[in-house]
Amino acid sequence: MLLEDQRYMQRAFDLAALGKGKVSPNPIVGALLVYKGRIIGEGYHRAYGEAHAEVNAVGSVQPEDRKHIPHATLYVSLEPCNIHRNTPPCTLLILRERIPRVVISCLDHTPEVDGSGVQRLRDAGVEVVVGVLEEQGRRLSNIRNTFVQQCRPYVILKWGQSADGQFAPKAQQQFWLTNAFSKRLVHKWRSEVDGVLVGYQTALTDDPRLSNRLFNGPQPKRVVVDRKGSLPTDLNIFDGSLTTFVMTDKQVPPKFIPTNTKVLPVLQQGGAWPKQALQALADQGVSALIVEGGEKTLRAFIESGCWDEARVIEAATFMGEGRPAPLLPVAPDQSYRLGGDQLFWYFNSLNLH
Ligand SMILES: NC(=O)c1ccc[n+]([C@@H]2O[C@H](COP(=O)([O-])OP(=O)(O)OC[C@H]3O[C@@H](n4cnc5c(N)ncnc54)[C@H](OP(=O)(O)O)[C@@H]3O)[C@@H](O)[C@H]2O)c1
Repeated sequence: MLLEDQRYMQRAFDLAALGKGKVSPNPIVGALLVYKGRIIGEGYHRAYGEAHAEVNAVGSVQPEDRKHIPHATLYVSLEPCNIHRNTPPCTLLILRERIPRVVISCLDHTPEVDGSGVQRLRDAGVEVVVGVLEEQGRRLSNIRNTFVQQCRPYVILKWGQSADGQFAPKAQQQFWLTNAFSKRLVHKWRSEVDGVLVGYQTALTDDPRLSNRLFNGPQPKRVVVDRKGSLPTDLNIFDGSLTTFVMTDKQVPPKFIPTNTKVLPVLQQGGAWPKQALQALADQGVSALIVEGGEKTLRAFIESGCWDEARVIEAATFMGEGRPAPLLPVAPDQSYRLGGDQLFWYFNSLNLH
């Protein structure tokens, strides 16, 4: 694999990331055109229903560089589409522009694409390289691929814990552990997903707003697991400012439904409830979900294998006596410092595509 291909693919990933939270349930995609070591055009998929990354990359080429397009290489983080939905197929654009070489990180597992984009280009004589920085590319496209292959949202578990591994005090009370950097980062993460889920006890004890008020971007939908539909309606999640889904046991709708709130009576007793919750959320168009606790809710997702990624922020603070944080069955893949806090990033390798 050429080092140069990897460098440009990294740029395609950076471009793709600019679309996070704005294209759901489409995949985030970045693309660039390179002619003789110079980037002559680049773009990304900016919003659902709008032009794809390849179209924006070609469209950004300056008039004096257009003559280079039939001699350039197109780098794309995901296989170009070969279907006509909101926009014409990108394979058609590549052929029309006579782009001779296309470098792709990974395939798009949308059933109607899944390799057919590559095949169509190869059949037309385009040189196609697949698999540059493939693992990174698959992680970028994981939300989309999970949604189309498993018909459920991509699940990111997130929690904070003390330096001594405690999750919360023994008594039901809020205890803020992590610092201001971490808080803002969590709001950024919320802007990149469709939904943020909490358990009944967390909604009651912490009264969170579950918004991304500390970071610009689309607001997620709020999801609360309230089996009996008995949460008080004066909680922040019921303030009507954002859509809230309340997941209840079957046949147990709450008596009073606040504005902008939808009850999803889909849960059954037993350990399988996260699967039912995810299915119902997929039906509501949620393709990426952050599960923010509490501990019992997180454990239910871990024990049922319903998670793809976990972002655990360990604070510098010690708690002493408390409730131990959940444990994950894998080692962290990456870790970063956030001021005095430390972020540990886990991936559930069993769920990788
Ligand atoms: N460190 C962090 O990052 C973090 C994040 C969030 C929360 N917290 C803390 O975690 C604590 C809460 O966690 P948790 O594990 O106790 O609870 P939780 O996960 O928030 O909620 C799950 C609990 O709520 C019950 N429940 C569901 N619907 C109910 C209903 N309608 N009526 C009564 N109970 C219902 C569940 O019962 P079943 O098991 O029967 O379904 C389960 O016991 C709080 O102290 C909060 O401050 C910490």
